[in-house]
Amino acid sequence: MTKENNSTHDDQNPSCKINPELSRRDFIGTVIRIGMLATLAGMVYPALSYLAPITKRGPAGGLSDVGAVDDIAVGDAKKVIVAGSAVMIIRTAQGFKALSAVCTHLGCLVGWEKARQQIVCPCHGGTFDIEGKVVSGPPPKGLPPHDVSVINGRIMVKV
Ligand code: FES
Repeated sequence: MTKENNSTHDDQNPSCKINPELSRRDFIGTVIRIGMLATLAGMVYPALSYLAPITKRGPAGGLSDVGAVDDIAVGDAKKVIVAGSAVMIIRTAQGFKALSAVCTHLGCLVGWEKARQQIVCPCHGGTFDIEGKVVSGPPPKGLPPHDVSVINGRIMVKV
């Protein structure tokens, strides 16, 4: 009598009590569940990180090099990320200023309007002067300043 079943499952062996079909189903089900969880995490994490205030991310600490002095012309500005915080670096005739680039109204990133020499929030039209004080619009308070200095031709900011 020959055995024609190619299956590796041995019904006669008492130590082999695993049902191969059920095991395969379980494995595929587990892989699908892990894939669904990974997809869900991939969708939820960016949404939550968008909602988290950008200024609360990352370590704060020492001075960070944000570029060369010549990167910003007098009367111009640029936004940088320092230790997870968005910072607006403004160059005036007197030197550099560093302010939080996060609007104090609802947290939008502000921009620099060179023609008016003002900081403008694109979300609800809030405007701030070069010192970060509210000029108009709904922001309840000014933009917090950061320490900025120039060392060996490099702009250094502390948040
Ligand atoms: S978020 Fe800036 S004015 Fe509303």
